[in-house]
Amino acid sequence: MNDKPVNDKQAVAIHATKYVKNGMLVGLGTGSTANYFIEELARRQTEEKLKVTTIASSQVSMIKAQSLGLNVIALTQVSEIDLYVDGADEITPDMTLLKGRGYDLVLEKLLAKAAKQFLVVADKSKLVDRIGTNYAIPIEVMAFAWKAAKRSLEAAGGVGDLRQNVAKDGLSISSHGSLVLDMAFDKSISEEALNQLINNTPGVVEHGIFRGLTSAVFIAGNGKVEERWK
Ligand code: 5RP
Repeated sequence: MNDKPVNDKQAVAIHATKYVKNGMLVGLGTGSTANYFIEELARRQTEEKLKVTTIASSQVSMIKAQSLGLNVIALTQVSEIDLYVDGADEITPDMTLLKGRGYDLVLEKLLAKAAKQFLVVADKSKLVDRIGTNYAIPIEVMAFAWKAAKRSLEAAGGVGDLRQNVAKDGLSISSHGSLVLDMAFDKSISEEALNQLINNTPGVVEHGIFRGLTSAVFIAGNGKVEERWK
């Protein structure tokens, strides 16, 4: 990469590729920042003969990676990966994340857990004091259980509803055929308590709070990248 990065998302994504070494199995995130990472990884494979195998957190990322010539394998083939690089919607000072605006949080959390190192790449607009500052919590629920799950979450103070599709003419369906509840909770509930509460709600497949999974956060602002390690 000789050209100047077009923005902070690209700058931080390119920075993260320096942690990819020959022979690694690398998890690919989903979203605009993760896309820059995929592009730079493919460039290094072509121009620097970097040898990597990848595993994608979404169909979209899989198609992008394959179209750029990266070798993508399925999660069914492995239980551990070397490195996972993905963006986030919100990042707190203790590196708790909110993810899932892009519908693919089930695979994203599996890869974050399976990774020896999980690097989060973001521009500084993603830094918040607490989860839920800018977005409701995405909660993926089994389609037949959405009403029961919503009622349980409302009983714990949650407010929200099923996510609409982009065209706003129907419901949003996740990659795994589930529905998504976007729920906001009172600030008095701690992130740990909220994490436990949603984990323990029957009908929930997965949710967007990622706690205790991050190895490092790379934050870009004005073209400069800062690394914060756990
Ligand atoms: C998708 C995600 C993304 O990483 C998150 O939405 C950030 O996206 P972007 O890099 O486009 O800002 O969690 O589920």
